[in-house]
Amino acid sequence: MQRRELLRLLAAAGATPLLSSLAQAADSGGWQADFEASDAAWKIGFAAPPADLPLARAAVRGRFPDAVAGTLYRNGPAGHALGGERYHHWFDGDGMVQRFVIEGTQVHHQGRYVATPKRVAEVRAGRRLTEAFGTIPPGVEPPDSPDSINVANISVLPLAGEVLALWEGGSATRLDARTLATLGVKTWRPDLAGMPFSAHPKVDPDGTVWNFGVGAGRGLLALYEIAPEGALRRAAAVPVADLPMVHDFAVTERHLVFLMPPLVYDAKRKEAGANFLDAHVWRPELGMRALVVDKKDWDRRQLLTLPAGFLFHVGNAWEEETRRGTRIHIDYVRSENASAVFTTNRELMRGRRVKSTDPRLTVATLQLGSGEATQTVLELDAEFPRIDPRRVGLRHRSVVHATEGMRDPPGFGAIARTDVETGRSQRFAYGANAIVEEHLFVPDGTGPGWVLGTVLDTARKRTLLSCFAADRLAAGPVAQASLPYALPLGLHGAFVPA
Ligand SMILES: [Fe+2]
Repeated sequence: MQRRELLRLLAAAGATPLLSSLAQAADSGGWQADFEASDAAWKIGFAAPPADLPLARAAVRGRFPDAVAGTLYRNGPAGHALGGERYHHWFDGDGMVQRFVIEGTQVHHQGRYVATPKRVAEVRAGRRLTEAFGTIPPGVEPPDSPDSINVANISVLPLAGEVLALWEGGSATRLDARTLATLGVKTWRPDLAGMPFSAHPKVDPDGTVWNFGVGAGRGLLALYEIAPEGALRRAAAVPVADLPMVHDFAVTERHLVFLMPPLVYDAKRKEAGANFLDAHVWRPELGMRALVVDKKDWDRRQLLTLPAGFLFHVGNAWEEETRRGTRIHIDYVRSENASAVFTTNRELMRGRRVKSTDPRLTVATLQLGSGEATQTVLELDAEFPRIDPRRVGLRHRSVVHATEGMRDPPGFGAIARTDVETGRSQRFAYGANAIVEEHLFVPDGTGPGWVLGTVLDTARKRTLLSCFAADRLAAGPVAQASLPYALPLGLHGAFVPA
């Protein structure tokens, strides 16, 4: 099959199974009423701001270091309800991008919904018009393309002076970096219009951007290589048997590494009326497959197998030459199963807490050639792993991550920095009423650097932005900004120095 033909098929891949199914009215089941009736203080993290949040000034304690002067952009689902109808999954909601402008003792914040065609049309209509990741609202039309259901709600990629709001089933969405105004979908090349562009691109230390996209139902994995100045260098689609849900990946100096949990899309389920999430089947007999692709020659691929498990996120990967050939080290956050995505992140939307097994920081080695794959699951619960951006694809020691999974409120109560070679970890616990969001590592020359991130204080109904010395996490924040309101709990962010 010619590459262009593959691309054409992939661009249609997200749409075809949906087109062939009648959008079935979900039993809306009173989710909005359940949410309103819930007495959980944490539910403010899943409320939907009715409109954009204009620029506001935060109260600041301490002084943010010069190295974190700049802008922190964050993205996450925020538009959870419309016209009295509430989505049934945390990942469904329209994306809202948050912009924190940090300068010494001053922090300003602004939040703006991404004006995707879906959101614009639905807000105008006052009701949902198309389906979402985990919900088919009553009376919606089948989508006519992946981008017709694009909610741009997972992450951001600052690139070439713009900010891209990222989803994983369709195009990236271009935003003005200063105003957060939506500029339209990103088309890397005319023949790639609408192709899935995932939410966890990796940026090499030289600025090269790598990404992928999953063509559900077609068994095609799109690959992208983008130059530091933002121009597409290469894109192609490679076939992968039993291609599952893949949310994140890793790069090394010479390889792209995909850990593929056995959660596989079944077009027949979709055609029978399931929403996109419920069209996936847990097939543990496949194991956790690791697909390793040569960065220079995407036709050179190797498949290895780890024990079955589920993951959203990868910390980092790096490679070394051994007598037995190339060995890849990769750390990721492993769960025994996919109950977090099927149950926990669904029940939150009606104000109910159903805890899944804690995800664990896990270190795996992949021996290319022999195909031997092994892993060590650390006794450390973790999510939202991030590393020093200068070490992407290179040997690293430290991973910054959320930890101390809680029964109530949902999520994590502490932030940690863990040495993946020794397992040693330092941490700071925010307290009983805090829900930790992703924290980033911000480098500072040859110094130990800083850890920057947000937390929802459910008691004070405030979102806080904190900065820690990376080598003294336990000492607590050196600076903290308190917004005059609570933001919806979000997913991922990126920091751009001033
Ligand atoms: Fe993610």
